[in-house]
Amino acid sequence: MKHLIDPTDLTLSEIDDILTLAEDIIKNKEAYAHVADGKKLATLFYEPSTRTRLSFEAAMLELGGSVLGFSTADSSSTAKGESVADTARTVSKYADVIAMRHPKEGAPLVAAMNADIPVINAGDGGHLHPTQTLTDLLTIKEETGKLSDLTIGFCGDLKFGRTVHSLIKQLSRYENIRFILISPAELRIPDYIKDEVLDAKGADYTEVERMEDVMPELDILYMTRVQKERFFNEADYIRLKDSYILDPEKLVHAKESLKILHPLPRVNEISVKVDADPRALYFKQAEYGKIVRKALIMKLLGLSL
Ligand code: NCD
Repeated sequence: MKHLIDPTDLTLSEIDDILTLAEDIIKNKEAYAHVADGKKLATLFYEPSTRTRLSFEAAMLELGGSVLGFSTADSSSTAKGESVADTARTVSKYADVIAMRHPKEGAPLVAAMNADIPVINAGDGGHLHPTQTLTDLLTIKEETGKLSDLTIGFCGDLKFGRTVHSLIKQLSRYENIRFILISPAELRIPDYIKDEVLDAKGADYTEVERMEDVMPELDILYMTRVQKERFFNEADYIRLKDSYILDPEKLVHAKESLKILHPLPRVNEISVKVDADPRALYFKQAEYGKIVRKALIMKLLGLSL
C-alpha cells in the first residue's frame, strides 16, 4: 500500500504515469465516470480549504465514488481530544482512501502509520503539499510542453509557503531548472530547503528581493499569498502582507510566453487586472487540480479502465 505524504514518495516514473493518466482523463472524461464505483474517499480537514477539499471531492464523485469527512477540526472528535492516530485507524474502517489536511507538520504521516488505507497529505502546516505539486506539474507540462529547461520565479512567502517547499523539492528532480527566489529578507526560503534540497541537488538558484529585476528572465512566475495563519504576531503580517502586488505594469517586460501560476487563494498579491492577461493561468491551474487528483486516486486505489 502506498501513501502520498511527500512528493518524493513517488518515483519520477510514477509521477509520469499519473500525469499521463491525467492527460487521458482530460481527453476521455466520460470513460472514467464509473472507475471508482463503490469506493469512498474520506476528507479529514483540520484547516480551511476551498480548492483542495472540493477538488478532491469532485474528483471522487466524477469517478463514480462517494465522499465523507469533516471540514473543521471542531466538528470531529478532535474537539474531545482524540489523536490523529486513533482518527485514522477508525476512518480506515469507513473509507478506502484518506485525504488529510492538518496545521501540524507531520500529522498526515502519523495518520499513514496508523491507517490500513492510503493516506494523502493535503497540506501539513508550513511543510509540504504534494497534491498541489502534482497540480502544478500538470499545469506546467500542459502549458509549456515540458518539465525541464525552465526558469521559475517563486514570489512571496517562501518561508511558510508549503506549496513552494513542495514544488521546489519536486522540480529539483528534473533537468536544468533555474530557481529565482523572490521574497523579503524575513520571508526567505528556510535553510533546510537550501541545504537538503537545492544545494544537495546542485540546483541553480538565486535569492532576490525585487521582482521587476528578474521578470524578463522568467518562464514561470509562481506567486504566493503571505501565510497569515503561520505568523506569531499580527504586526509582522501587516507589515509584510503587501510586499508584492503583481499588476499589468510589472508584466510589461515579462516574456510573451510567461505562465503566471498561483495555488490560490489570492489575497492582494495579484491585481484582478491581471486576470484577463492570457498568461494568467491560476484558475485553469485549479481545474488541473481536480483532474490530477482523479488520476492520483485511481493510482492509489489500483483502479483502471
Ligand atoms: C494553498 C495551501 O493550502 O497551502 N492552497 C491550496 O491548497 N491551493 C496555498 C495557500 O493557502 O496560500
